[in-house]
Parts: sequence; C-alpha cells; structure tokens
Amino acid sequence: MILVTGATGQVGGEVVQALVRAGHPARALVRRTVELPVAQAVGDLNDPDSLAPALDGVRGVFLLPGYHDMPGLLARMRRAGVERVVLLSSLAAVATDTRNAVSEYMIRSETAVRESGLPWTFLRPNAFMSNALRWLPQLREGDVVKDAFGDVPIASVDPFDIAAVAVRSLLDPGHEERVHELSGPERLLPAQRLAVLAEVLDRDLRFHALTDEEAREDMAGRIPQEYIDAFFSFYADGTIDESRIHPTVQEVTGSPPRSFRRWALAHRDAFTAPSHPRRDEGSR
Ligand SMILES: NC(=O)c1ccc[n+]([C@@H]2O[C@H](COP(=O)([O-])OP(=O)(O)OC[C@H]3O[C@@H](n4cnc5c(N)ncnc54)[C@H](OP(=O)(O)O)[C@@H]3O)[C@@H](O)[C@H]2O)c1
Repeated sequence: MILVTGATGQVGGEVVQALVRAGHPARALVRRTVELPVAQAVGDLNDPDSLAPALDGVRGVFLLPGYHDMPGLLARMRRAGVERVVLLSSLAAVATDTRNAVSEYMIRSETAVRESGLPWTFLRPNAFMSNALRWLPQLREGDVVKDAFGDVPIASVDPFDIAAVAVRSLLDPGHEERVHELSGPERLLPAQRLAVLAEVLDRDLRFHALTDEEAREDMAGRIPQEYIDAFFSFYADGTIDESRIHPTVQEVTGSPPRSFRRWALAHRDAFTAPSHPRRDEGSR
C-alpha cells in the first residue's frame, strides 16, 4: 500500500492516477473527503498523530514538504512500518541560505527525511507547468497576462512526469538515497508559454512583463512577504537555475518528458470552463 499526501493537489493527484494505472494499491491522505479514484484516510500533515489510521499497512509514502513537525511525521511513518519515502522537494533545497523561506522548509524537510532512518528518494523538479493556472483570473478578464520575471527562462515540468518518476521511485528498486532533478524538454520564457497557450486556446493573448517593483506590488497581500523575497532571490538574483534540462524523466520512466504544449492541451478545459473559483490556481 502506498500513501499519497497532497492527493487533491497537482502532483499528488497525478501520483494517485499513476498508481491506479499501474494497478497498485494506494490510499489518499486528505483533510476532508472528496471524490478520488482510491480509498481515502483523513489526516493533517501538521498533526503527526492524526496520521495513524492513514498509515495502517502502508509501505511507501509520497510526501509533500514543509509541515510543522517533519521529524515527528517521519517517526510516525517508521513506527507504522513504512519502508520508503519519496519526498517532493525542489531546487530551493540546493541553496544553502536558510534565511530564504522556501529553501528553509525544503532543507528542513530533506534533513528530516535523511535523519529519519527511512530509505528515501528526493524529487527536485523545476517550476511546474501547472503554475500557468495562476493566469486563469487574468485570462477570464481579457487577453493580456501580466506576470513577474519575464526574462527568466524555465524548463518547467509537467506534474504528470513528476508523478511518473515518483511512482517508479516508490515501486522499483535502485532509487534509494537518490536525488532526481526533473525538468521538461524545453526552456521557455513566460511569454513563450503564453504563446503556446494562445495557440492551444485559439486566442490572441499578449504577455506584459511586470517590472520588479510592479511585481512586488502585485504579489503583496496575496503572498507572504518572506515568500516574495524568496522568489526574488531565486528569479531576480538568480540563486537557482531552473533553465537546465535534465534527462531524468526519460531515464527513470522510459518516456520523454511532456512538452508545455502537451500540458496545455491536456488542461485546455481548465482555461475554457465558465468562470468559477478553482482550488488549483495557487500552488507554490
Ligand atoms: N509550483 C511549483 O513550481 C513547485 C516547484 C517545486 C516544488 N514545489 C512544491 O510542491 C508542493 C506543492 O505541490 P502541488 O502543487 O502538487 O500541491 P497543491 O496543488 O498546491 O496542493 C497542495 C496539497 O497539499 C494538501 N495539504 C495542504 N496542507 C495540508 C495539511 N496540513 N495536511 C494534509 N494535506 C495538506 C492539500 O490538500 P487540501 O485539498 O486539503 O487543501 C493539497 O492536496 C509545495 O511544497 C511546493 O513548494 C512547487
């Protein structure tokens, strides 16, 4: 049995789907029950004791990072007989500046997993293709998308591929104590991703790059200040490089990583559905 945390989110949702396709028993950890194709157990990652029912009979865990008591969570898993943890981390864990709020929680999470004594695999994906869902409110209003870091190319990765690597790491031997850096097949500027989306949606969309000052203003109020500072450190100061293309998805899964066009085609409905608040507009 594999326990999938974040099962209602971008990556965990794909991990659930991939386990179902693989015909492998899976259980979703949820904070409240929703419609999912696998059994669910209610629990909160900020409350390790609440995980007891979810961990019954579990051998592998797909784990999200950054919860209050990561050592406590992992101790619970170990006591329950878990034999493998695949942690969704990021390149932010490579930066050593723990004053950076994102690096702090990624490093803290990786350290807790390493020190837990459980066999582990770390996934360090570039930014997700699904971050384009954050453009939805603007795309409902008109044809101009304003966003930060317009000159930063990123080889973003489809959550489908992150999940495919997660599942192989959970089910196959040979992934213990390995760090998988993950990317898509191409590096694109935000304006280039929007151009792909425009073609897929058959709309005339234009990208407007915000200045750093405008971007800070735009993020203020929506995003905690320490995360705004972290993103500026990553993308304005260049403390991480997400433009690198990695061979990992192909090597681990045997299939090439999916392009942004493919992601956009698969998620076209999200961009054409009538306006209503969506819960998938806000990861990271
Ligand atoms: N976006 C990026 O570009 C990027 C890149 C690298 C790494 N990451 C990392 O990826 C992670 C986000 O992954 P994602 O985009 O797949 O997630 P997501 O779509 O933002 O969804 C978050 C998931 O976590 C669950 N969750 C939140 N708090 C919880 C709690 N206290 N207990 C149990 N479950 C909880 C949510 O469940 P509910 O349905 O109950 O809310 C939801 O399933 C973040 O840690 C981020 O730092 C993101």
